[in-house]
Amino acid sequence: MKLGVQALKLVLYSLKYAAGGVCLSTARLDGKTALITGANCGIGRETALDLASRGARVILACRDIEKGEETAAEIRRRVGGAQVEVRELDLADTCSIRAFAQRFLREVNHLHILINNAGVMMCPYMKTADGFEMHLGVNHLGHFLLTYLLIGLLKRSAPARVVVVSSLAHYFGWIRFHDLHSQGSYNSGLAYCQSKLANVLFTRELSHRLTGSNVTVNTLHPGTVRSELVRHSTVMSLLFTLFSMFLKTPREGAQTSIYCAVAEELHSISGKHFSDCAPASIAPQGRCDETARKLWDVSCELLGIEWD
Ligand SMILES: NC(=O)c1ccc[n+]([C@@H]2O[C@H](COP(=O)([O-])OP(=O)(O)OC[C@H]3O[C@@H](n4cnc5c(N)ncnc54)[C@H](OP(=O)(O)O)[C@@H]3O)[C@@H](O)[C@H]2O)c1
Repeated sequence: MKLGVQALKLVLYSLKYAAGGVCLSTARLDGKTALITGANCGIGRETALDLASRGARVILACRDIEKGEETAAEIRRRVGGAQVEVRELDLADTCSIRAFAQRFLREVNHLHILINNAGVMMCPYMKTADGFEMHLGVNHLGHFLLTYLLIGLLKRSAPARVVVVSSLAHYFGWIRFHDLHSQGSYNSGLAYCQSKLANVLFTRELSHRLTGSNVTVNTLHPGTVRSELVRHSTVMSLLFTLFSMFLKTPREGAQTSIYCAVAEELHSISGKHFSDCAPASIAPQGRCDETARKLWDVSCELLGIEWD
């Protein structure tokens, strides 16, 4: 009996530990506009729900409009007076990103919070419409182009924040400049890690370039979260099912994104990495300015843009 109670206590403690940090800020976002990519499910959906409940106008950028509208309807049901809109954005297609940004800039006057959340993990070898390897294309290059197209609006709306959802997986990544698109050899796990390291390096370089603009950019690890992210990997899906009780719920996983977007104490903090609503360390390969600059230049070249 005593052993049973101890075991139960241990499980409850583990669950509490797994839940991670909570964003305690009560900041209101009335009059503010937030844009969240991949907001129709998982961490993005919970982030959208929270920001809407703080009074923000929240734009859900989704590749599947129907799924996006279902999420928007659910947010409206749960938050009285929620201002939620859905717009089509496929990060695997630069034409879609450009069309999205063009309409956004025409119709939306301010942007205070941009959350680069959408992501793919461990998919079979696939290329985006522009021929980029899918992880690099969606997780890094798609968001790079989106941010580039919206940076002027963010600056005009300052104070503003860019939040980049990366992962602890960046520790296991390195940028394979000699074969960025994994054409020589492909490992879906390593391709994911490379793209998440690219998120960290992008944040580092962008924060330098935004100095003095009152626009900050930070990156984060949400924790290990029960979401649809593992949909492409049978092994990961099985592991996530087996250990599901020790994983964060999407709501728990959204806490650090929300923290980076609203916490008052972060108003002038930029170029940092967070986990469980607290500062977190960055892998050595994510702290290299030379690699960050090189990746920036290569990304501009691939996307055919000039971003000084
Ligand atoms: N879950 C975790 O344990 C974990 C851990 C570390 C980091 N992360 C990061 O957290 C972020 C959110 O992941 P999640 O766990 O919430 O996964 P999720 O439930 O699979 O959500 C991913 C979102 O990204 C969207 N997306 C995928 N490809 C897209 C594209 N080409 N264009 C536009 N949107 C696209 C998905 O849309 P569809 O529904 O239409 O596919 C979905 O809305 C990702 O960046 C991920 O790398 C998650």
